[in-house]
Amino acid sequence: MKRILTGDRPTGRLHLGHYVGTLENRVKLQDTYETFVLIADYHMLTTRLDRLDEIGQNVRDVVLDDLSVGIDPEKTTIYLQSLVPETAEIHLYFSMLVTVGRAQRIPTLKEQMRDHEITQPSYGLLGYPILQAADILCVKGDLVPVGRDQESHIELTREIARRFNELFGPVFPVPEALIPSDRLLPGVDGASKMGKSLGNAIDLADDPETVKQRVMRMYTDPERIHATDPGRVEGNPVFVYHDAFNDDRAEVDDLKERYRTGRVGDVEVKKRLVAALERFLGPIRERRARYARDPKIVEEIVRSGSERARAEARRTLHEMRAAMRLDYFGE
Ligand code: TRP
Repeated sequence: MKRILTGDRPTGRLHLGHYVGTLENRVKLQDTYETFVLIADYHMLTTRLDRLDEIGQNVRDVVLDDLSVGIDPEKTTIYLQSLVPETAEIHLYFSMLVTVGRAQRIPTLKEQMRDHEITQPSYGLLGYPILQAADILCVKGDLVPVGRDQESHIELTREIARRFNELFGPVFPVPEALIPSDRLLPGVDGASKMGKSLGNAIDLADDPETVKQRVMRMYTDPERIHATDPGRVEGNPVFVYHDAFNDDRAEVDDLKERYRTGRVGDVEVKKRLVAALERFLGPIRERRARYARDPKIVEEIVRSGSERARAEARRTLHEMRAAMRLDYFGE
């Protein structure tokens, strides 16, 4: 069976943007691929050395989010990156295959520096995408479902896999990115992207009252003043959300038609979106509550998943060292 490797940094709770961007794909594909979902806590060290005390709780939250949307721990291996320390050794070998110039040209480096107000990037931050390549290739991932922002990292991973195979022999698959074709989910403030740090997100774990408040204050068509004005549906965040989350397609079509012709107000469109989001989030909240009841369950899932991932990483590392002729003292 082909393999999927994907994951998140434990920065806090996941939101609807994550769902559309990658969680949905993870859930859908876990039956046809052997799936690994990692929680990338090593990656947190590249930007948040000042906030390491929050990581433990964030790991729990992200795992709960994965489980709550329907990732099934019987089918999917959920694991913690730092419990698979082979990743770090693989990263070391890979770091010799990437020039400093190539690493500096990865566009996310500048973005991270800007977002975290870093003027002098550490050697570790420069290595961020190389560490990600180690994640993907330590389990020989074939397919990597990620958001569009991660595309350059998967491209680098492909280069590293090819380069290693060329130099030392065929050890790695050349993985493919799986990026949703849709545009990004906008924030509730109309910004082009939903982001935790942007304060414009609806979290998967938000309660009904919070969801309602966020939707009722959401941006719509800025040029429409009266409910009787013809409105714009395209690019209107409320309708982007209806398209993404409302399972009642007939209702969405009807609302769009009436909006375009000035026969429905923003309030009704939003109320129906609140109802649709509740239909979507209700079962997610229930599953979350079930897993959250006993904190030992999450711990157990992460421990056994990490053991499984570690066995794979160990095997890959042996193959790498043999291919590189580093096994001169056995092993
Ligand atoms: N860099 C990814 C992000 O910020 C997280 C990540 C780390 C990842 N290792 C990965 C994603 C491997 C996919 C595959 O979202």
